[in-house]
Amino acid sequence: MFRRPVVRIAEEPFELAKAAANTFVVAAKESVQEKGKFFAALSGGSTPRAMHRLLAEELFCLEVPWSDIHLFWVDDRCVPYANPASNFGVAREDFLNRVPVSPGQIHPMPIHILPEEGAVQYERELKKFLPLGQGGLPVFDLIVLGIGQDGHTASLFPGQAALDEAEKWVVAVKGGNPDVNRLTLTFPVLNQAGQIVFLASGREKASILKTVLEDGTLQLPVQRIQPISGNLTWLLDQEAASLLSDEKIVVQLH
Ligand code: 6PG
Repeated sequence: MFRRPVVRIAEEPFELAKAAANTFVVAAKESVQEKGKFFAALSGGSTPRAMHRLLAEELFCLEVPWSDIHLFWVDDRCVPYANPASNFGVAREDFLNRVPVSPGQIHPMPIHILPEEGAVQYERELKKFLPLGQGGLPVFDLIVLGIGQDGHTASLFPGQAALDEAEKWVVAVKGGNPDVNRLTLTFPVLNQAGQIVFLASGREKASILKTVLEDGTLQLPVQRIQPISGNLTWLLDQEAASLLSDEKIVVQLH
């Protein structure tokens, strides 16, 4: 059953980052309180960086149950961690090096081996740590996604075979910007999550967001993110939301 997503709009990018960091903190605290663990998968790109940096700031850092969380990646580029295109490498600089989480709880994608082998190895890592839900699929408590201007999310790009992957949890693809080999979680895994939050900021995302949120045709990769039983929230800033007209889906952030 497709439920209308909740769209929340922040006044400006820093408010968006604070709302995203707060969402992470609340989800982590609730999961740890309920089952002693919190499993999250993070995206790369530029939008989540302000949220990541906030998680290392005292206001948020002191609230996160770091000793009980496990961090995974939604996707990564098959480049060395020191490369600025590395989602894990950038996250390590932005906050992982500054928060009290042990290396055994951080699970970067294995980008240093053949991509196809890396996909198999990461699936094994997911199997080792994550609880399994419907159909034996891994269940993340929170997945943070971005959206590209072409309607991609994760490294699931329009027209690629990976969009139709129904069995594998992780696949190797090539594409995007930069156009490199990548590993990405697939829709069966993404849609198992308890909570999916999209982050989008800036005027350059306004057009794709209007298409995705107001044109119901399920054509673009991002429109295939439909949590089986979890919640879906779009956290936008005003510029990204500037072309949205359907008042029914907009709830202003306080
Ligand atoms: C990646 C990301 C990708 C990203 C979007 C938006 O590794 O490229 O996972 O899906 O979320 O491309 O990127 P921006 O936040 O930079 O606009």
